[in-house]
Amino acid sequence: MKALILSGGKGTRLRPLTYTRAKQLIPVANKPTLFYGLESIAAAGVRDIGIIVGETRDEVMAAVGDGSHFGVQVTYIDQPEPRGLAHAVQTAQNFLGQEPFIMYLGDNILRDGVKPFVEAYHAKQPDALILLTQVDKPELFGNAVLNPDGSIRALEEKPKQPKSNLALVGVYLFTAKVHAAIARIRPSGRNELEITDAISQMITDGCRVESHRVAGWWKDTGNAEDLLSANRVVLERLQGHIQGQAEDAVKIEGPVSIGPGSIVRRTVLRGPLVIGQGCVIEDCFIGPFTSVDDKCLLSHCEIEHSIVMKHCQIKQVGQRIENSIFGEHSVVQGQMQLPRSHCFVVGDRSQISLSQS
Ligand code: G1P
Repeated sequence: MKALILSGGKGTRLRPLTYTRAKQLIPVANKPTLFYGLESIAAAGVRDIGIIVGETRDEVMAAVGDGSHFGVQVTYIDQPEPRGLAHAVQTAQNFLGQEPFIMYLGDNILRDGVKPFVEAYHAKQPDALILLTQVDKPELFGNAVLNPDGSIRALEEKPKQPKSNLALVGVYLFTAKVHAAIARIRPSGRNELEITDAISQMITDGCRVESHRVAGWWKDTGNAEDLLSANRVVLERLQGHIQGQAEDAVKIEGPVSIGPGSIVRRTVLRGPLVIGQGCVIEDCFIGPFTSVDDKCLLSHCEIEHSIVMKHCQIKQVGQRIENSIFGEHSVVQGQMQLPRSHCFVVGDRSQISLSQS
């Protein structure tokens, strides 16, 4: 079995973060989202992995390398334009050959990884296996309707009026029969070759398509809210590990990780939270579900349920920061002088929400 990870796309719903970074490399609990998928595929025993890349190929290649760090072998496959998930499979046809493969959308994270799914495939030996879970807004996903016996009646990509609350998770298992189905589908309304349509085509063609339910949580980190929510659920399972120095009246509650070379002083750390390497944190409250990546400087501020990427500086902020994401090298600095004004230098499509006092 091979694996195909999709790591192209523009990540428009995560702008401005994706102006400078592949969406699959945005960190969740200080680790790029893509690494969760890679690690889970490696843990399922699949070693031969193709990664579909687009405009952000250089960055993805620099981060993942040849895969040896993950104990796998990576082949990069260029998708010149993001023309849909089924188009990505078509692009990878030479790499995939006639082997079955697991397809994994690089911005998805599953609590239990893909091992149970790969095992279900080996047990059932279908032509395709799809992964389903219940969601609150099925209209945002591929949608599945099942028959009373559990078999799949119909699949529809982002239907305006969904007929069930079951979403297709961004992980699929296919035999080589999917290639013939992809060759027969047409681009959708959004001008993409949809993998959902290819699976429907397989069903029409009489292939055996089965479904498997996700047992634990699943997160598609497609927008800011989802990203924070992924960060939260990943941190919920954190086992604290203090490698840096917590000195001078630091209060630690709950699971907290502090990376090597980081120094924390006069601060309340209420976990679960993770602080990377080489950070300096003074006179702060860092609340639950927060990740602060390497080389950040935080002083006189309160922050919770947030993601702070590398090299950020957050100082003297009067009100608590929450539900926030800071891209690398961001600076947020309160000031005491008059006039009492807000002063911004923000990039395109940034979002700022100020609480009025
Ligand atoms: C894609 C698929 C959709 C699936 C989703 C899971 O959507 O087209 O069927 O439910 O991934 O993450 P998109 O990446 O367009 O949001």
